[in-house]
Amino acid sequence: MSVILHGARVLLRPWTLSDTDFVLTLTSDPLIPLISAVPAAPDPDAARAFITAQNKRHTEGRGWAWAVVDDGRPIGYVGALWTAQNAGRASIGYWTGGQARHAGLTTDAVTTAAAWLLTDGGIARLEAYVEPWNTASARVAEKAGFHREGLMKSFAPIGGHRKDAYLYARIS
Ligand SMILES: CC(C)(COP(=O)(O)OP(=O)(O)OC[C@H]1O[C@@H](n2cnc3c(N)ncnc32)[C@H](O)[C@@H]1OP(=O)(O)O)[C@@H](O)C(=O)NCCC(=O)NCCS
Repeated sequence: MSVILHGARVLLRPWTLSDTDFVLTLTSDPLIPLISAVPAAPDPDAARAFITAQNKRHTEGRGWAWAVVDDGRPIGYVGALWTAQNAGRASIGYWTGGQARHAGLTTDAVTTAAAWLLTDGGIARLEAYVEPWNTASARVAEKAGFHREGLMKSFAPIGGHRKDAYLYARIS
């Protein structure tokens, strides 16, 4: 099942191999390869493997992964992973390529995905994990209806060091 969602400005669609060149532009981003499966080296085979893995996520029952498209061009990612499916709990993740930031497009994408995930997607509690320095990500979460619930110490290793993260959640 492929789910296509329309936001106010962006389109959320499955990843396709035509997105390979876009994925290659992300390999030089200082953060995206550290927090996602985007490869850190500009290797076309690795970029294609990333795309294939995104599309397997739903068929393998692990969640959803969309390419965010603006004006016909891929600009980023939004998706969710089940963290405790029996309890109806999942986490959302998102990133946008540098050239498309600061335009409200990520907020549109996350708002659109969250609204669908918390209804048709069957998620009861959708969490977002945001490093304390990441004001832009916190603003995206807040504007998409997530509420900050607390600070999780030593939440996950990022770039070789364990990092704290704010826990945000939006409830269905
Ligand atoms: C975080 C990220 C997704 C924000 O994307 P974006 O497209 O710039 O977000 P939007 O344009 O929708 O902006 C949302 C809000 O963040 C604010 N914002 C954007 N960049 C900012 C920055 N560098 N510093 C402070 N606020 C910022 C915007 O002003 C806006 O708030 P406002 O409406 O109150 O003015 C993007 O910077 C990114 O992909 N970063 C790398 C990956 C990442 O951090 N992912 C999230 C992990 S939890």
